[in-house]
Amino acid sequence: MKEKNIHTNSKLETRNSQPATSRRSFLKRIWGILGIVAGIEMLAVFSGFFAPGKRNLSGTTQTLVVAGNVADFKLNSVFPFRSGKFYLARFSDGGFMAISLKCTHLGCSVLWNEDKKEFMCPCHASSFDKNGVVINPPAPRPLDTFPVIIEEGKVKVDIGKPVRRLAFDRSQITYA
Ligand code: FES
Repeated sequence: MKEKNIHTNSKLETRNSQPATSRRSFLKRIWGILGIVAGIEMLAVFSGFFAPGKRNLSGTTQTLVVAGNVADFKLNSVFPFRSGKFYLARFSDGGFMAISLKCTHLGCSVLWNEDKKEFMCPCHASSFDKNGVVINPPAPRPLDTFPVIIEEGKVKVDIGKPVRRLAFDRSQITYA
């Protein structure tokens, strides 16, 4: 009889210890998953911080593109900066304007046609004059511009501040 009791108790122990073990392993798994998620977040924060050209040490986004020296840009010319997503236009009077290459219709990238002296959109055939003003719709308004800063003989473009406009006027041109 005593022997039978011991046998029954050990059966109970086995039955009770199984849920405790699976609960423990479940919690272990949850902690493991949380650890991985935390690791991924840390990685994202650090990679964002150290990504070249994206952020500076104060954590603000770096958006100033140094296009080159003033003297490098011929008068009456348009220079593509496709990685910065703009064209730098230099007018005959020496002024500069940075024109977004994003079409104001549905956002395709416009191309500069040197022969026609126009920006052309390959998607739905909008075209824009050298100031970025619409010649042919469906684009509803001129191409956006970006602020141009000229410092110590260098032309810089702030690609973080696109300027939406409804028309061209000479105040949009920056001079050295
Ligand atoms: S996206 Fe340029 S005309 Fe449609």
